[in-house]
Amino acid sequence: IQSGVGKTDDEIDEALGVGVLYICVESGQELAAVSARAAHLNKVARIALRINPDVDPHTHPHISTGLKKNKFGVPHAEVIELLSTTLTDRHIDVVGISCHIGSQITKIAPFVEATHKVIELAGALENRGHHLTHLGVGGGLGITYVDEAPPTLAEYGASLAGLLVDSGKTIVLEPGRAIVGEAGVLLARVIRTKRGADRDFVILDAGMNDLIRPALYNAHHTIEPVAPQNAGPLAPVDVVGPICEASDTFAQDVVLPPLVSGDLVVIRAAGAYGSAMSSPYNGRSRTAEVLCDGSRSLLIREREPLTALWRGERHLNGEPLDDDRP
Ligand SMILES: Cc1ncc(COP(=O)(O)O)c(C=O)c1O
Repeated sequence: IQSGVGKTDDEIDEALGVGVLYICVESGQELAAVSARAAHLNKVARIALRINPDVDPHTHPHISTGLKKNKFGVPHAEVIELLSTTLTDRHIDVVGISCHIGSQITKIAPFVEATHKVIELAGALENRGHHLTHLGVGGGLGITYVDEAPPTLAEYGASLAGLLVDSGKTIVLEPGRAIVGEAGVLLARVIRTKRGADRDFVILDAGMNDLIRPALYNAHHTIEPVAPQNAGPLAPVDVVGPICEASDTFAQDVVLPPLVSGDLVVIRAAGAYGSAMSSPYNGRSRTAEVLCDGSRSLLIREREPLTALWRGERHLNGEPLDDDRP
């Protein structure tokens, strides 16, 4: 499927060209754009309208997407009228409706509430002559970062199956974090430690450019030492990165054994929105990725070379920069 609140014509063309299952349409303007692009390419666009069900996912405001104040989806009350125009549009095939109410959701109730709204609207649309084959219930199932206790996949599946099993439709789920989040860690080395006037710091070679969740959402990730060189009593420290922002802090007052330069730590549950949200900010090339399977490990992404930071840049005379400059 193709999702996103601001698809360009090029992106719509791409989706029509590869023949995605459906394009999630997010507004009346976008519906007109998809219809126009499909007409231009002499195609029929399969679409699912993304509804905004106005359901509170009880998650961080930055990752809440299904409240009426959010930019996503078509207001619930406007869906029927908007889709009535498609009944006579030969370049649009409305195959379903969908929603996605947010991320890192740790309770079943918001999913159930949103799914009820999707089912109810689907029924109303079918009564008006639409033939829907798909219902999209989005992603958003949370994971355990520290002590959260989200529903298990089985509980989540059972609660939705109970509502959807009789629909006769193909159910589309879009979970991301729940699949890969807990499978990944960010492995970092202690550059050095520092005694501040107020607190002690452990400075890592990983920074907010590698894992931005703590800086962006005040998110907590469990941090554990890996075979520290020294033994000693546990003490509270702030675990920070090397970047020139005070928000480049992975955890405050985290209780750890004594760490020294060269020790390794893991920052857990970094498998989702870690690498994907990483950036070369502060002149830092993106980190390598290693896939581990039991005792086997495989480099699946090379560490970005520093030269990648200026690749593609040009002098004012149009000459490319020397890419190999150290
Ligand atoms: C439309 C849509 N579907 C699925 C996802 C995946 O969400 P999650 O990783 O929380 O399951 C997102 C995340 O932002 C999204 O915007």
